[in-house]
Amino acid sequence: MNKTALVAQFQKVFGRAPEIVTRAPGRIEFIGNHTDYNGGTVLGASIDRGVAVAVARRTDGKRNFHSSYAGKTVSLPAAGAPMKQSGEAFWTNYPLGVLAALPHFGLSVIEGFDYLADSDLPAGAGLSSSAAIELASALAFLGATGQAPDRETVVKIGKHAENHFVGVPCGILDQGVSGFGKAGHLVFIDCAGPRFATVPMPAGASFWIFNTHTKHALVDGLYAARHRECMAAAQALDVKLLVDVSVEELRLAEAGVEPVAYKRARHVVEEIERVEGTVQALKAGDIAKVGSLLTASHRSSQSLFENSTAELDFLVDTLVSSSGVYGARLTGGGFGGAVMALAGAGFGTVQAEAVAAAYAAKFGARPDILPMNTGDGAAVL
Ligand code: GLA
Repeated sequence: MNKTALVAQFQKVFGRAPEIVTRAPGRIEFIGNHTDYNGGTVLGASIDRGVAVAVARRTDGKRNFHSSYAGKTVSLPAAGAPMKQSGEAFWTNYPLGVLAALPHFGLSVIEGFDYLADSDLPAGAGLSSSAAIELASALAFLGATGQAPDRETVVKIGKHAENHFVGVPCGILDQGVSGFGKAGHLVFIDCAGPRFATVPMPAGASFWIFNTHTKHALVDGLYAARHRECMAAAQALDVKLLVDVSVEELRLAEAGVEPVAYKRARHVVEEIERVEGTVQALKAGDIAKVGSLLTASHRSSQSLFENSTAELDFLVDTLVSSSGVYGARLTGGGFGGAVMALAGAGFGTVQAEAVAAAYAAKFGARPDILPMNTGDGAAVL
């Protein structure tokens, strides 16, 4: 997305130039499924698509939000605490949640403004457009008021907005990767710190996203349910978070944990081991091993965490039997959405089309094929 185009669009909608333009990328969850809110580790990649935001202050007490996607302006008063919006204005909860979060970090809140958001992220593909709009909004509001907290604070502001205003009990993966991303790299997050680092992408590997456009009707409720099940398992195991249990300790404690909670815990605890294995395999340049861990992560989602679907399973099965694919797994929360494949030079458009055709023959609809490049993290443009 380019700055000139966004400035021109802002000019068209609001009749003047913005004071600040920012951009934050979407992300791919590489491996570490539902580990973040359990205090574990995770690897993700920021992509070269995202959300751009432009802001200019106003002095008449109005906050005007416009998104090119919705094509409409939502005008809200600057006075009083931000109020949660519904219906067509639902999307403004992301920037509003950021405004509501700022005082919790000792930061001052911008009053009136004109605000424009534009996105080149495919919608509903599980690439975290919510974290992208939160981080781009945070950087814009902060920049317009001359505040420049460190990157970790910006990431936490985004997570705060999501947890406390939007109301999703997510971990720090999406905002952390959008904030700390770097082209050609994966972002490693130790969510307990949190601590952020980058790891180079394996040479010659590329990402493919297959978006099924299926989404379980109860996806938000199911995410929250998994969150609760994990916390219940931790309590039964007498630890604060599941990261504090080893695979061996969990096995020994099996008899004392309710069977469903045990399955959820096993997925998380073993997934944290797989993240560690992936970091080691990346360092050793063993891409075949990386791929097998990605696929093992999916199998665990399928049988233990039960956040996969027939559509996602079919894509993973078809992809891993295609030539040139190192591994494949669902990416993000699950319950529909998208599958990610890590592939080498032997996998290209022809092979991807064959996967999509097999899927269409079975499910009657074609998934989108999205070859993805990594990109840099959130920034003022
Ligand atoms: C969603 C959440 C993340 C993370 C993943 C699952 O993307 O927003 O915080 O929990 O699901 O790993």
